[in-house]
Amino acid sequence: MKKKAAAGKKNLIADLKGRSLLTLNDLSDDEMLGLIELARELKKRRASGVRGGLLEGRHVALIFEKMSTRTRCAASVAAADEGATADYLSSKEIHFGKKESVRDTARVLGRMFDGILFRGFAQSVVEELAKHSGIPVWNGLTDDSHPTQVLADLMTIQEHFGKLAGLKVVYMGDGRNNVATSLMLGCAKAGMDFVNCAPPELEPSKKATSAAAGEAKRTGGSVRVEHDPLTAVKGANVVYTDVWVSMGEEAQFDERLRLLRPYQVNMNLMRATGNVKSGKVIFLHCLPAFHDNETDLTRELGPLEVTDDVFEAPFSLVFDEAENRMHTIKALFVATL
Ligand code: CP
Ligand code: NVA
Repeated sequence: MKKKAAAGKKNLIADLKGRSLLTLNDLSDDEMLGLIELARELKKRRASGVRGGLLEGRHVALIFEKMSTRTRCAASVAAADEGATADYLSSKEIHFGKKESVRDTARVLGRMFDGILFRGFAQSVVEELAKHSGIPVWNGLTDDSHPTQVLADLMTIQEHFGKLAGLKVVYMGDGRNNVATSLMLGCAKAGMDFVNCAPPELEPSKKATSAAAGEAKRTGGSVRVEHDPLTAVKGANVVYTDVWVSMGEEAQFDERLRLLRPYQVNMNLMRATGNVKSGKVIFLHCLPAFHDNETDLTRELGPLEVTDDVFEAPFSLVFDEAENRMHTIKALFVATL
């Protein structure tokens, strides 16, 4: 059994070497699940005090156009833990697309670094980096996609339930954003039953939904779009939400508040899963979250996408999920470098 697992990991690392992760479509189901398994092993390894060596002498560049706490720190710590260096490059401080084309920057960084993690606006930019750098490029969030987030989400669900396939995941809120659509695809690939619950104005595109539904058909999972929160969450094992206004969409703030107030994750909604008492439901959020009265916004408006009692409840695993960003990004570095 152990021998088989070790052989599987060897294959995973051989298969993923040199590869980029621009969306979850870049991974087969087995590769996605294999990365989660590798991340769980790296987590155990770190907890036992063993670090270092797996990325010795490697150098990764972290290009950020948008703000970040978790993704940036996860990548820096993952690299440092295993002997690699990580250089944080704010797009405002390098000649990125201003004095130099993205293509030229990609070719320069490809001569110096072993991999590039990119966070920014257009998906086409992360694609351009991958096309011209000649090294693995990892999408650390674009307007369209947040694949490394979903690796951590699935890892957290698997740690808790011991499985993924067959569980019901309900995403509540802005159903067409990067996290919602990547989660939809990841859950479908993992054979889960996924419900995207959003107002009609914010439901995912037909293209994204039917692509995920196609994956689900193959894996024995399912994908559904719902508009009524109380119906959607019935029987949920995971209730997931994200901010109502993603980075770069600030102009839509008032409209989002109007559309999404009925989609707030509160205790009433959690109880409607029917799974709180039996302990068969968890709450996840990619973070940062507007749940308390400790930000300028929530001091004025109160909690937005999730109430504080849900966020702080024993069934809320948001900080395990945040920690798992590091283990999954580390697994990605180890496997692709
Ligand atoms: N979840 C996530 O991507 O967090 P950051 O924006 O802090 O990186
Ligand atoms: N949808 C959010 C995710 C933040 C991690 C955003 O893009 O701002």
